[in-house]
Amino acid sequence: MNTPVLVAVAWPYASGSRHLGHLAGAYLPADIFARHQRMIGNNVLMVSGSDVHGTPITVRADAEGVTPQDIVDKYHNEFLSQWDQLGISWDLYTTTGTEHHANVTQEMFLAQLANGHIDRRTSTQLYDPQAKRFLPDRYVEGICPHCGYEEARGDQCDECGKTYDAVELISPRSKFSNAIPEPRETEHFYFKYSNFNNALKEFLERKTGWRNHVLNFAKGWVNEEGLIDRAITRDLDWGVKLPVDDLGDGKRIYVWYDAVIGYLSASQEWASTTENPDNWKDWWHNDSSRHVYFIGKDNIPFHALFWPAQLMGVQDSIGGSSLHLPDDIPANQYVTFKGGKASASRGVGLTITEGLEKYQPDALRYALAANFPEQADTEISNDEITRRINEELVANWGNLVNRVLAMTYKNAEQAIPSSGELTEDDDKLLQLVDSALETAASQFDQVELRAALRTAMEAAKETNKYLNATEPWKVVKEDHLRGLTILFVALSAINGIRVMFAPFLPFSTQELNLILGETKGWIRQDLNPGTPLAKPKPLFRKVE
Ligand code: MF3
Ligand code: ZN
Repeated sequence: MNTPVLVAVAWPYASGSRHLGHLAGAYLPADIFARHQRMIGNNVLMVSGSDVHGTPITVRADAEGVTPQDIVDKYHNEFLSQWDQLGISWDLYTTTGTEHHANVTQEMFLAQLANGHIDRRTSTQLYDPQAKRFLPDRYVEGICPHCGYEEARGDQCDECGKTYDAVELISPRSKFSNAIPEPRETEHFYFKYSNFNNALKEFLERKTGWRNHVLNFAKGWVNEEGLIDRAITRDLDWGVKLPVDDLGDGKRIYVWYDAVIGYLSASQEWASTTENPDNWKDWWHNDSSRHVYFIGKDNIPFHALFWPAQLMGVQDSIGGSSLHLPDDIPANQYVTFKGGKASASRGVGLTITEGLEKYQPDALRYALAANFPEQADTEISNDEITRRINEELVANWGNLVNRVLAMTYKNAEQAIPSSGELTEDDDKLLQLVDSALETAASQFDQVELRAALRTAMEAAKETNKYLNATEPWKVVKEDHLRGLTILFVALSAINGIRVMFAPFLPFSTQELNLILGETKGWIRQDLNPGTPLAKPKPLFRKVE
């Protein structure tokens, strides 16, 4: 109760439309987790924003012949409207383009510089002799030095997830001109990640309950090869400016150094809108808060290794006490659409906009949650989404609510009935719902959201079975009191089950609240006999 919980969600690049795979990978699980945490009384701060820097943005702007700011504005606005339509319950959704974010980034940079964790080095970078410019990150492709993947980008391989320096690429090609880039000397600031190998080892050693694939990836990296120092500036004129002026023009801070700082800067930005601008400290300068990061697996190194190192590197410099490190990083694997990874840059699968045109928001949330790639890559198709909606959400939960409310409305004078004495089977059903609530609570807490959803669905199935066995539609004509008692029991079961569905289905929950009253806490509340019922209408539409 009352624990400050930071729900930190990966910042989408404002460089193109996001896909259902991104939604299922990070934003939706974060929202579902946050809603559950709020329902059990914790103090949730859920922040993210659009990642507006780096070559994903400039490459797109180049391709369309517009400015990077045009691209950022277009997609940031698209995202804002999608969060609204999907019911993603941010406390703040901002961007890394704010002045405040630049200030915090520069402040952290200077603190790490003062602490000896940043230095300036002359290094070799890839240069395009035709385009006459350096080729940071996505401006170059080649063969991954770790796994041999052929279309690896300049800073990270999509196939194995490893990060590296572009000069390590085998057979690099310029994305500008297709020219073979040549190595040239240039100056950059480096973050000494190698200073933190021991601290990171200890940090990871203490972690229990993390998803295996996350912990193994992170531990494997520090224990086997160890982190090496990496450049945190780029030859680019788009991004956060350096807080020191000795590199000259055309150098900006690397997008992955600044984007993760967004979690902190956004928390502060949120606090500045509350009665106390120091409120962010409840989450960041507090040992007993809990920080949970929702990301896709390609983001694991940045959140499990580099960001903790950046946080450790400002120790004793920002605000006097240390900043809270990640507690859990329940990264998801990929959602694949008919065999290809859902990727904005490769254009596979439905965009979020297309998904919202085809499906009701709660129905889409349901189908994706039932397929969250929590342990393994998961394949999804329109047929699978339709099947989940029609055969599970509509046929099981929607139909249960609908038939019980309709029968009650018709037979109990449009109000919640009183019950006669309960039978053993009546009690058994209600106990099943109460124990499902307990099971689901621990599944939510461990971010096993698919399992929590199954628990809710199983309870709905059992309630449908109970109805089929007790046949209230017949009984109510022969033994009115018993008929009403069955409906009372079924309605009571629904009253508990809706609590478990609430984090997944915010819109239909809102409609049910109008009929049954707001939920209070993570329990099945007693019904108030005599409360008038509104005329029920179906919660969900079948997909054709
Ligand atoms: N923009 C990155 C992506 O889409 C994610 C950034 S997460 C952050 O993969 F924390 F660094 F912001
Ligand atoms: Zn690779």
